[in-house]
Amino acid sequence: MFNSQNNMNFSDLILEWYDKNKRDLPWRKSKDPYKIWVSEIILQQTKISQGTKYYLNFIKKFPNLKSLANSNENEVLLTWQGLGYYSRARNLHKSAKKIYFELENNFPKKYETLLKLKGIGDYTASAISSICFDEKNAVLDGNVFRMLSRYFLIDKPINVYSSKKYFRQIAQDLIPDKRCGDYNQAIMDYSSMICKPVNPKCDVCVFSGSCKANLLSMSTDYPKKLTKNKNRFIYFDYVIFTHGSKNLIQKINRGLWVNLYQFPVFKSDSNISLMDLKKMIYEEFKISSDNIELINENFIKHKLTHLQIQSRFWKISDAPKIKGGLYVDNFEKYPMSRLMHKFFEKYNSKLSLISV
Ligand code: ADE
Repeated sequence: MFNSQNNMNFSDLILEWYDKNKRDLPWRKSKDPYKIWVSEIILQQTKISQGTKYYLNFIKKFPNLKSLANSNENEVLLTWQGLGYYSRARNLHKSAKKIYFELENNFPKKYETLLKLKGIGDYTASAISSICFDEKNAVLDGNVFRMLSRYFLIDKPINVYSSKKYFRQIAQDLIPDKRCGDYNQAIMDYSSMICKPVNPKCDVCVFSGSCKANLLSMSTDYPKKLTKNKNRFIYFDYVIFTHGSKNLIQKINRGLWVNLYQFPVFKSDSNISLMDLKKMIYEEFKISSDNIELINENFIKHKLTHLQIQSRFWKISDAPKIKGGLYVDNFEKYPMSRLMHKFFEKYNSKLSLISV
């Protein structure tokens, strides 16, 4: 692990780089576990630039654990709106309540106790315990996986659960006794800014003389991944039932988007015909939909982890009133999925559903 040029080891080199080059991020001004927790949850699945905006907004709305624990889920989801993966927000809210009301506002400090909270897994427990409480637990995010796999020329696919234990041990062997929180943030910064997925900056990398992939000019051949078929499609047909100047929305009662709102939707494995859709509408709502019109000519696409949603939006004007939903004209009060927002962004000017 020693770098022959200057006799510094892996963690010294990373920390030296970090002290000169670290990103100026708002949560780095604090070791408040609540703020670090919020930042780490937001940054899972979200890029730093977008995540920073949401972080600042979230902390403005819920500046401490008490304010989050005393809020209602709708407010939390509204603040999260657009970030996706809403279970993150729901779990953040549930766990805030648990810490504030059941643990008497004592934020857990240890990796093992943090892991017991909903929504906190290996990564988040390692980040909070090391950054806020100096416990020596190495973080592994996608960027760190990539850097380790290049540095040690590891052929194990990083997207397979069984590889995790192997990488975890290596990461844990590298983390220093002192400044372990800084080290974790340093390796995350370094791997995302220097050891980049494409066009890695091997020419300025402090490990260019010891990284096995670089020495073999194979950096971009690593990390190895098992290719999975991501091209499964599902089809969503949303129907906007208009009654007077208001439109029907429903609260989603399960799944990925639970407690968000949307127009009634019909889901299929294939691209159904208009006749089939009319039949489905009749079966569900007992209304005929002769005046139904398609709003978007091209599918609005929305990628989830394992599949892609192809969606169409239909409108039925002057529909009879249907039970089992809300008729609204103030959509902004209701948290909605990114997919619904994509529709509004593109077609509101045509429909004037939202007054701007
Ligand atoms: N990505 C997620 N959390 C991070 C952190 N604390 N520092 C740098 N990159 C990150």
